[in-house]
Amino acid sequence: MVLQVEGNSLVDEVVMLKDSASGLDGVVAIHSTVLGPGAGGCRLWHYADGEAAFADAVRLAEGMSYKNAMAGLPLGGAKAVLRRPHGDFDRAALFRAFGRAVARLDGRYVTAEDVGTSVADMEVVAGETRHVAGLTQRAGRPGGDPSPHTALGVFVAMEHAARRRLGRSLGECTVAIQGVGHVGEALAHLLHGAGARLIVADVDSARVARVAVETGAEVASTARILSAQADIFAPCALGGVLNAETVEVLRAPLVCGAANNQLATPADGERLARRGVLYAPDYVVNAGGIINVAGEYLGWASEEVAFRVESTGERLAAVLDHAEAKGMPPHVAADSLARAAIATGRVRARVPA
Ligand code: NAI
Repeated sequence: MVLQVEGNSLVDEVVMLKDSASGLDGVVAIHSTVLGPGAGGCRLWHYADGEAAFADAVRLAEGMSYKNAMAGLPLGGAKAVLRRPHGDFDRAALFRAFGRAVARLDGRYVTAEDVGTSVADMEVVAGETRHVAGLTQRAGRPGGDPSPHTALGVFVAMEHAARRRLGRSLGECTVAIQGVGHVGEALAHLLHGAGARLIVADVDSARVARVAVETGAEVASTARILSAQADIFAPCALGGVLNAETVEVLRAPLVCGAANNQLATPADGERLARRGVLYAPDYVVNAGGIINVAGEYLGWASEEVAFRVESTGERLAAVLDHAEAKGMPPHVAADSLARAAIATGRVRARVPA
């Protein structure tokens, strides 16, 4: 089945999920399986209605296709979005029902955790299907919390971008991190280790205070972090943080962070470019987590995952080279390279040296 949905996105397949006994209510959107099984996490969130969940699933699935293609993974893109039931619910029953639905897709969709879901939930799903990753890690094998891998990928991408835009190493830079959750905190430690000066902000005041003590960071208010006097702005909290208003107050000449969908609209990518801000496309630099998920599902050794995550700087370099050669902003260059990789069905094979 091919469905045409708003924004000209094409999805290969959409499966509506309904199970009244467990309260399962959601959708799996498989955007593309050209490069391999459609892979992308399972989000459990409050949605106003089924249409909102559907639209989010389709948008996120397309994003996963691009992210997986640009990471050189033999995976297509997909996403599951589940509507969180109101009040108390039997979480295990809900994820068992979800696991049965994933099993029925027979490997066309591979799930993992995402916003609102956890390793424990994926363990329940694994009782019903083998097409799941993000499970408890076994020695020498990829698995577990993807955040440290995401943070490492952002870090090596940032190293490349700092040299390219600022002509400096990270040890000579000030980095403003918005959100010191799982990824932001790990990134702060990596940057601290590299000698960078840090400014951090988070709505969770206890968390930001702890990270500040551990890394010697200055704490900024969540309102001020965007306009902080920094060389690099690292969004590690919310999507849509770069919009018509915020781009104007941003002082850093480089944006490189983990948050998904950082640009509120593509026009904001153009705005950044016009202001001379180098934007490292989010899905190119934050793929470390999905690389770890891929390694777990495909049975790679941890060394293979590490090699691929550490190559994030090279992949960013290729995107920025393409952008410069074609005179286009980096977000447009990334989309065009991702679409080309999917259209030709070719993914650059990378094997450890
Ligand atoms: P998280 O939920 O652990 O951390 C987010 C942090 O941002 C929290 O500490 C929260 O208090 C803070 N926050 C929320 N609103 C804020 C605001 N207005 N200002 C400052 N801080 C605010 O999430 P996680 O896993 O660290 O992910 C961070 C971002 O990276 C998300 O956008 C996520 O989608 C994206 N991402 C995460 C991956 C992973 O491996 N965890 C992989 C790829 C993308």
